Amino acid sequence: MRRETFHLPTLLLAAAVLASSARGETIAGDAARGNIRSKAEQCQECHGEAGISTSEHYPKLAGQLSAYLRKQLNDFQSGARKSEIMTAMASGLSQQDIADIAAFFSAAPRWDAEEAEFSASGRTLYESGDYARGLPACQGCHGENGTGENGSGEIGADNKAPAPIIGGQRQLYLTSQLHLWKVGERENSPGGVMNEVARKLSDAEIEQLARFLAGQRTNR
Ligand code: HEC
Ligand code: HEC
Repeated sequence: MRRETFHLPTLLLAAAVLASSARGETIAGDAARGNIRSKAEQCQECHGEAGISTSEHYPKLAGQLSAYLRKQLNDFQSGARKSEIMTAMASGLSQQDIADIAAFFSAAPRWDAEEAEFSASGRTLYESGDYARGLPACQGCHGENGTGENGSGEIGADNKAPAPIIGGQRQLYLTSQLHLWKVGERENSPGGVMNEVARKLSDAEIEQLARFLAGQRTNR
């Protein structure tokens, strides 16, 4: 009989899901109300009417995992994730607003791929990591091509471990987040896993990864 071994990413992600349950994960979201609230709160001015952001600097939210969106909004509110704009924008939201807005954006049709120059080295790093440097494969958590699927559940399901969808995300946003993880400006990942990963990446590798990822389609 095969003995089950502990799988570190799964453990970390399970911890993240539990943590978000404690912050109101169980409140059911109403997408129609989320549309009205996110319009009134001006979220749609930057993130788009249907979650396709209006600038390279803003992340797309359309079809993103709702558990991930909820966690980020809670983290902006608590200060666990720092952003001047988003701390201000999230500060007035109730737990019900967060649930509704996450339901709205996650139900919107998934974004398309960006036009980005393909990077073969970015793909290799994404799919295989670099064993010699102790760099895990991004794919192990973020799924094939950045689909957010890591084999533990349905895409978009509320109870899914929130390793976000990053394929087809804005290239500039991906680059900037990887830099923020690398220097420790962003440190809200479970167990600090994204800081540990990004610290091992050179600036050139961050660029290659962002180019590879931005060009991936996840809306098939
Ligand atoms: C003025 C533009 C602007 C407005 C308005 C705005 N956002 Fe943002 N949003 C941003 C930026 C910029 C980021 C990236 C912050 C960073 O640097 O980490 C972001 C990040 C996010 C994220 C994290 C996404 C991810 O992939 O990690 C969520 C969720 C989000 N915003 C939701 C909202 C909601 C909900 C509202 C309305 C209450 C809103 N935003 C209003 C600019 C905006
Ligand atoms: C052990 C699992 C794991 C591995 C390996 C991993 N990630 Fe992540 N990643 C996560 C989790 C979980 C988050 C969400 C953290 C949070 O809650 O803010 C995340 C967040 C991100 C984000 C932020 C997305 C956004 O919308 O703001 C980017 C970009 C990212 N990862 C890229 C990568 C890349 C590139 C690699 C490989 C070099 C990688 N990740 C490896 C688990 C992982």
